[in-house]
Formats: sequence, structure tokens, C-alpha cells
Amino acid sequence: TGFVTLDQGFVNTASTTSTITYIDGDAGILRYRGYPIEQLAERSSFLEVSYLLMHDELPTPQQLKDFADKIRVHTLLQEEMRTFFSGFPRDAHPMAVVSSAVTALSTFYQDALDPLDPEQVEISGIRLMAKLPTIAAYAYKKSIGHPLPYPDNSFDYVENFLRMTFGLPTVQYDVDPKVAKILDMLFILHADHEQNCSTSTVRLVGSAQANLFASVSAGINALSGPLHGGANAAVLEMLEQIRKDGGDVNSFVTRVKNKEKGVKLMGFGHRVYKNYDPRAAIVKKAAQEMLSTLDRPDPLLELAFQLEEIALSDDYFVSRKLYPNVDFYTGLIYKAMGFPTKMFTVLFALGRLPGWIAQWTEMMNDPANKIGRPRQLYTGSPEREFVAIDKR
Ligand code: CMC
Repeated sequence: TGFVTLDQGFVNTASTTSTITYIDGDAGILRYRGYPIEQLAERSSFLEVSYLLMHDELPTPQQLKDFADKIRVHTLLQEEMRTFFSGFPRDAHPMAVVSSAVTALSTFYQDALDPLDPEQVEISGIRLMAKLPTIAAYAYKKSIGHPLPYPDNSFDYVENFLRMTFGLPTVQYDVDPKVAKILDMLFILHADHEQNCSTSTVRLVGSAQANLFASVSAGINALSGPLHGGANAAVLEMLEQIRKDGGDVNSFVTRVKNKEKGVKLMGFGHRVYKNYDPRAAIVKKAAQEMLSTLDRPDPLLELAFQLEEIALSDDYFVSRKLYPNVDFYTGLIYKAMGFPTKMFTVLFALGRLPGWIAQWTEMMNDPANKIGRPRQLYTGSPEREFVAIDKR
């Protein structure tokens, strides 16, 4: 009924109102609940930002402690759940393992799945925050055939994750506080980004009143795509390919400009930012800091700098307002931390989780919320007569 307008990819159509995240794409501004991303990245912590997103306001010290304690007691997976990880092939993509495990959470917590019950929603959100790092670490351990450790709740959120990921029962493993600090900051930068593809997916699935685990699992699958969260891994693959091909950055850029099939400058461009992505500016600094601690400098960082410099002065990129996005430098940091490329997008998911929960909850509490059901413009055949199969 009424006019149906076509807006493929929702370029100009708002799907919702929201009080969570503000972006001015022309000016390169990002704020969570009014706080500039630069201030949060420098002065806050991931759990504090998660609280801010999920509860509207920054926590008091007591509120933050209660929030962290609640998460801390839920880090363990049910023992049956651990056996899932042995069922997947070793070369499975960790994003597929993680999203499957998140779906599986809904089989273990059937008493708390009602999307309309705020208490059940709260405990589901806490469980997700607590268990996703454990699931992510197990997806990695599975991929290298190592035993699955248990979380140790004497560690804080990011340390516990790093310890589960890189620790071994046979070797003492000490988390490098610098690595933990940078990873915590990267999680802050990824924590929300208004109605991006995965968040819109989480909302769309939730709008049918599917439970929070089902909705977040769908979001993880959306995030896995190379045009979205998968770009952080694609950037590294691109840089490695350029190096293998002799390190000729200019000839790669020419292939991009010629729009060779499948050749894009990964980590560049954004639907909303038509300016430098403010997150990319922070990540670039962190990459320089992180990589300066390595014994041998990573030659891929130098290639990334060259690519950025060429692109920022080339008319193809300038006229299309293509700048580095958050994914351009993150992969280099994750690599320096010891993560394999396949894990990069899982790290994005760990960071984005509080945003998904906050957006899903905002939608559920919105009295104007309706099931998401886009319209279409039909371009198929007009009515025609069925022809029996022996007459075709
Ligand atoms: N390399 C080369 N050309 C590009 C790129 C790129 N990375 N991005 C956009 N363009 C060109 C595109 O070909 C088009 O040119 P023309 O006008 O001649 O047809 C023009 O710029 C506009 O691009 P678009 O594809 O209409 O833009 P979009 O808003 O639909 O897509 C995007 C946004 C992020 C999917 C796209 O820029 C892209 O594919 N970038 C590479 C993948 C990437 O880095 N994704 C991460 C996004 S940020 C965080 C996240 O979501 O994970």
C-alpha cells in the first residue's frame, strides 16, 4: 500500500532511530552515547564502554565492578558444549565455528530466551559477553589441535582471552600487559558502529522476536563477509600477495583503478565515512607502536604505508572519497600479536558484541518496533499459463 521506493543497500533509508552511536561521515566523527571515540579509546576500558553501550551511561566504580563480576562468573562453557569443538574439521573457519557455538548457547539456556523479558535478556547478554572470548579461544585451539583450557577468572576480560588463546597447560604463559592494553583499545574501537550490515542483521532477526543468541549468531555470519568484518583478514592477504608479487605497490593500485575483477583496495572506502575513518587514525598509531616492539620490522607495514600514501594522492581514490577504514591497519597488529589471519574477524566480533546487544535491546524496548519486512519492486514475468512438463 502507498508508495514503495527502491533503495538497494539502504543507501538513503534509515531503518530505525537510535540513541547509541553518532557518526558524521563527512567530518569523520564517531561518538558512543555522545562520547568521542578518541577519548574512549585513550581513557576508558572495553568493559566500561560495553556498560556504556548497554546501559546508556558510564558506570560508577561500583557499577563497573558489579558488571565485570557478573561477566566473570559466566566465562565457563557447559562441558557438553566443549565437545562441539572436536566435531568440526580442523581447517574450519573460526568464524563458522564461533557462530555455530553461539547458536548452540540457545540450547543450553532455554530458561532465558524470552526476548520480551528484560531479566532474561540481561542474563543472556551477560552470558554472551562472558562466553564469547572462551568460544573464540576454543575455535583457535581447535584449529591448531591444542587442548581446550578452562577460563581462569582471576584474570581480567582481555587477559583471560589471551591466556586461553596462547597459553598451554605445559608452559607458563604471561600475558604482555602492552598487548592486552592495545587489544582492549581495539575492542573499544569496534564496539559499535550504528546500523552496519551485521548490526542491521542482528536487529532484523530480533525483530521477528528470535532470541538474542540466534540474533547475534546471525550478526557474526554477516560480519564474516570480506566487505564487512572479513576485510581485516582480506587486507593482510592483499598485502602478502603484493609482497609475493615483488612488492610493486603502484602496479597493484593500477589494477584496482582498472577495476580488475575481484581486485579492490581492501581496508579502503566506507558507506558512511567520506573522510578519514577516525578509528583508522587511532589504529594506525597503535600499529606503529605495536610493530616498533618487534625484533624484526614487518615489511607488510611498510607496504601498507606506501599504499595509503599513493591512494590518498591519487585522483581515483580522492574523487571517490576513499580513505583507510578501521580494517586497514588492524590485521598488522593482530599478526604482530601472534594471531593467524583466520582469527582476525573473530577479534572484530569480540569487539562488536556489546554494540549488537545494545542495539538489539534498544529495538526490543522501542514501542515503535515492528518486524523488519522490506518491500520489493517485482520485475519478473507477468501472469502466464502453466505448461505441462512433456510440452516444454
Ligand atoms: N577499492 C577500490 N574502489 C573502491 C573501493 C575500494 N576499496 N571502495 C569503493 N570503491 C569504488 C567503487 O568501485 C565505486 O566506484 P564507481 O563509482 O566507479 O563505481 C565507488 O568507489 C563507490 O563505492 P561503492 O561500492 O558504491 O561504495 P559502498 O558504500 O557500496 O561500499 C564498501 C562500501 C566498504 C563495501 C567498499 O568501499 C569496499 O568494498 N571496500 C573494501 C572492503 C572493506 O574495506 N570493507 C570494510 C568496511 S569498514 C568496517 C567494516 O564494515 O568491517
